[in-house]
Amino acid sequence: MASKTTAATAPAVNDLTVVFGDQAVIAPLKAPKAPQQTITMFAGATAGQWVPAIDPKYVWSKELLRLAQRLVSQVVSKNWLLVGPPGCGKTEFAYQLCARTNRPVEVVECSEAIEADALFSTILPAEDTKSGLKRIDGPVVRAARSGATLILDEVTGLAPEVQIALHNLLDGRPIQIRATGEIVTPHKEFMVIATANDVSGEHRHKYKGTFALNSAFKSRFAAPKFSYLDEATEIAALISRAPGLDPIIARSLVRVAIAVRTSVAAQLREFSFRELMVAGRALATQKSMKVEDAVLEAYSGKETSQDASAIGDLVKAELALSKAK
Ligand SMILES: Nc1ncnc2c1ncn2[C@@H]1O[C@H](COP(=O)(O)OP(=O)(O)OP(=O)(O)O)[C@@H](O)[C@H]1O
Ligand SMILES: [Mg+2]
Repeated sequence: MASKTTAATAPAVNDLTVVFGDQAVIAPLKAPKAPQQTITMFAGATAGQWVPAIDPKYVWSKELLRLAQRLVSQVVSKNWLLVGPPGCGKTEFAYQLCARTNRPVEVVECSEAIEADALFSTILPAEDTKSGLKRIDGPVVRAARSGATLILDEVTGLAPEVQIALHNLLDGRPIQIRATGEIVTPHKEFMVIATANDVSGEHRHKYKGTFALNSAFKSRFAAPKFSYLDEATEIAALISRAPGLDPIIARSLVRVAIAVRTSVAAQLREFSFRELMVAGRALATQKSMKVEDAVLEAYSGKETSQDASAIGDLVKAELALSKAK
């Protein structure tokens, strides 16, 4: 349902139209110029630039949609940091936003193994050169040149010196490729979406192989609140991802997950949407399976016996509540 807004209230998102009954669809933006060539190979990776496919089973809440509009409008910032618990949908949101708005992406799965120079430029074997080698742009430069969206997935995997090497780029300044001296001015559609579970480093024991983001790096991003879907959307997303799941059972599962997430006393690990999907699919395909067993298989089977029993209690309490209604 596209609504007209007056000049005074109109957000600068005229390129996006919201077209939906109860499902949001973001109308495609004009594709940036010359973005869609496939560039092969970056430091051993096989994928180059591509526009993610639209996933029709992805469920847009109003909140996600509003956030998508803010990102694409680029008014507030061109650099966005989505911080949230595991499996709440950060990476998928970045992909689906780009899919719906026809934005090519460059994805860097951040880890300690990534070196700053390789993000900018790298050397590959080549049959058609005398030296048998050729230099190609790394993902950061490819994205900056073409206006693709740079997705820094699990950005806390980047070592501090690599974070620093991105400061100029994040400031929107032209960047220099150290190896060649070439200066590249970022395309106007270029933007960065980074995802992380914990940017403070406080929970490093839970997220092995991660670094705290340094303050200067963090200060270059807008970091909107990003967490689990609201209850109604999460139920809809679960049914969408676990076809055939009884909506009543879907609701119970989501409520169990919410109870686990919010149970301060028991201090349980986050119950991710990823795990909800596993439980939902088990229950959708094995009608005789008990909700308790599906939750055990998807989530509590990985916990200590004490935690598992706390979760068992939450499941029982939730099911009793559902029956009582
Ligand atoms: N709105 C949604 N509708 C349907 N499915 C969703 C939605 N959001 C997330 N999912 C699904 O949930 C799963 C987890 O999402 P995703 O991988 O984006 O989580 P994440 O927050 O990036 O997790 P992590 O921190 O572990 O990387 C994926 O399979 C994704 O497709
Ligand atoms: Mg992710």
